[in-house]
Amino acid sequence: MGDTYPQELKASSSCDWPLLGTIISRLRLQPGQQLIDLGCGTGGVGLWLARACAVHLVGIDISPQAIHLATQRAPEFLPPDRAVFHVGTLEATGLPDSHAHGAVCIDALGFAPNRLAALREIRRVLRPGGRMVLTSGGRRINPVSPPWPEQAAAAGMELESEEERPHEPAMWRRLYQLWVKREADLRQHLGDQQADSMLMEARTRSRSLENRRSVTVTLRRPGGHVPSP
Ligand SMILES: C[S@@+](CC[C@H](N)C(=O)[O-])C[C@H]1O[C@@H](n2cnc3c(N)ncnc32)[C@H](O)[C@@H]1O
Repeated sequence: MGDTYPQELKASSSCDWPLLGTIISRLRLQPGQQLIDLGCGTGGVGLWLARACAVHLVGIDISPQAIHLATQRAPEFLPPDRAVFHVGTLEATGLPDSHAHGAVCIDALGFAPNRLAALREIRRVLRPGGRMVLTSGGRRINPVSPPWPEQAAAAGMELESEEERPHEPAMWRRLYQLWVKREADLRQHLGDQQADSMLMEARTRSRSLENRRSVTVTLRRPGGHVPSP
């Protein structure tokens, strides 16, 4: 990804510097508030945001290994007790109602077996007025998911913004070309099983990039105090 990749995060996603800026400006968090990172992986995105915005973090991921690694990384970013990580799913986070002022879900919503249930769960764990920033990739022609205004309404959320990430498909194309070109390095550093899986992803997903539309979406749970302009 070159120098658009924020190295410190070690994100397993398309999270780049421009996306971090968008998330901060869209979530509008205040110091001391609560942030949730859904499908947090090894935690870098949420930990970086929690440090930058001086908020508390809870990260949720389906993978116990990812949660273990995220918990180990937390002290690199935050003082003790500012971040916790739990195993859970996008549809069943295990968090209380109205838990957080903001949430992020970076390149993870597409893995939810029931996308609408995941969006409804996010609404439940957000406070009234709380915002959620997610990334989503789909097909430009013949999209599988309904348009975002419909998805937001079905989940009881307001769609605040839907911003296209026009550079995102090209970023994946460059990355996939590098994986193929450096197959020997992948095999040496990651082993055959992981390298085979990555090369398979590179071959199958490269074909669909022409038709890919990637967006950053901000949803808001209705209610709460909205300051007058
Ligand atoms: C592409 S990675 C993104 C990780 C992280 N958000 C980042 O930006 O580095 C997708 C993550 O979603 C998690 N995941 C997949 N299905 C999930 C589900 N149903 N519920 C919660 N997490 C899930 C995976 O374990 C993985 O960590």
